[in-house]
Amino acid sequence: MAENLFIPQTSDRKKIYDEIAPQIAALIEGETDLVANLANITAALKEAFGFFWVGFYVVKENQLVLSAFQGSIACARIDFDKGVCGHCYTTRQTVIVRNVEEFPGHIACSSASKSEIVLPIFNKNGEVAMVLDVDSDTLNDFSETDADGLQIIVKIVERLI
Ligand code: SME
Repeated sequence: MAENLFIPQTSDRKKIYDEIAPQIAALIEGETDLVANLANITAALKEAFGFFWVGFYVVKENQLVLSAFQGSIACARIDFDKGVCGHCYTTRQTVIVRNVEEFPGHIACSSASKSEIVLPIFNKNGEVAMVLDVDSDTLNDFSETDADGLQIIVKIVERLI
């Protein structure tokens, strides 16, 4: 695996996603341990974008259970009908929340989190097997550019499960 990420010095997030996606694919190539790979993916996303929190919740025991992440401590378990993550799980769609305080049922793991994006990750049976959750300490920080860019990362994860 490569030892360093090359991160273009630009505020153009699309350019950064395009640049880091193949590097993330290379980073996990040859490693079969899922959590090791998820951990490296969260580290790469945090390093590339400086997001406040990046992590995966895995479907387990009828809940979403915290897995690899980068950022401050977070709730370990989320019910399927709770929070932005639960909403993503039940609707099976990417959810962009521009202001978490306006999202009914948002779970505030940290008061510093202001906006959020959550993407579903499907297994080979078409079930949501995990979600990718990214939080920002800035209001309205996520757009379709992030939905599209993170979707490339989700596709990489879906090949592993
Ligand atoms: N805000 C999420 C909970 C997870 S933390 O953001 C890490 C939610 O409402 O589902």
